[in-house]
Amino acid sequence: MERNVAVETKDLVHVYPNGGVKALKGVNLKIYENDKMSIIGQNGSGKTTIVRHFNGLLRPTEGQVFLFGEDTAGKSVGDMARRCGYVFQNPNHQIFCTTVREELEVGPNNFKFSEEEKNQEIDKVVEMMHLEGILNSHPMTLDYTTKKIVSIASVLVFKPEVLILDEPTGGLDEVGRRMLTSIINMMHNDGHTVVMISHDMDYVAENSDRIVVMSQGEVIADGTPKEIFLNAPVLERAMIAPPQITSLDLLLDGQGDTALSVQDFVRKYKN
Ligand SMILES: Nc1ncnc2c1ncn2[C@@H]1O[C@H](COP(=O)(O)OP(=O)(O)OP(=O)(O)O)[C@@H](O)[C@H]1O
Ligand SMILES: [Mg+2]
Repeated sequence: MERNVAVETKDLVHVYPNGGVKALKGVNLKIYENDKMSIIGQNGSGKTTIVRHFNGLLRPTEGQVFLFGEDTAGKSVGDMARRCGYVFQNPNHQIFCTTVREELEVGPNNFKFSEEEKNQEIDKVVEMMHLEGILNSHPMTLDYTTKKIVSIASVLVFKPEVLILDEPTGGLDEVGRRMLTSIINMMHNDGHTVVMISHDMDYVAENSDRIVVMSQGEVIADGTPKEIFLNAPVLERAMIAPPQITSLDLLLDGQGDTALSVQDFVRKYKN
């Protein structure tokens, strides 16, 4: 079945002005509506740079970015950010209000939600992410993990069609990871598109239907988790180790259906 394209880059080049690093070297990428995908690649490969073009934080040096079929060249950051909600890699760069409650109101206020809808969406997110006790706290007094949760909540609250999570598991404990997993699944089940950037291959393997691999400003592979994590030359070129359980399975056996998760592994070896 033909699916609609949510985000498309055409020959996207980005050169940072200071220092002139060519961070993207002509990237062609299509992200489809309702994709649940991850972008992986070593430090400096261009992951953050590419997704920042989806919400207008960065503009192409050359090439084009389309959102839902429309060229974004003439679009405001507001228009783009409403559709592509971006959770920053570092929550300290995203959070700027003096209370958590105000932080959650920024998106709904910018995007002209009615008072009723705003309160309703905030209540939902607060309940789901257990933020009741900290609504009046100053975000900068919170620990890193809680700040991270607040930064995710502040994007979730305006229900962007495309949810971009830049390194979302960084600093999260197990409770936080499970909450994140349920958020990703909820958004995906509700028809949203989820794009995650991560260095956590165990998490990526279990939470993506599609993986795009970047290396030195280019996309070098695009496939299912199995296709990517069993492609040794691609992993080598991108300097990525597969999930630990996959490495273990390959060492033990190297045949049949290779495990990408602990559950896969148990299923395979129990008999
Ligand atoms: N603001 C900036 N000014 C100049 N160069 C930059 C800037 N931000 C990133 N770069 C450079 O652009 C390249 C791509 O960086 P980018 O942040 O997109 O990588 P990344 O894949 O997100 O890396 P990481 O995994 O470390 O987050 C790197 O060479 C980086 O040093
Ligand atoms: Mg990055």
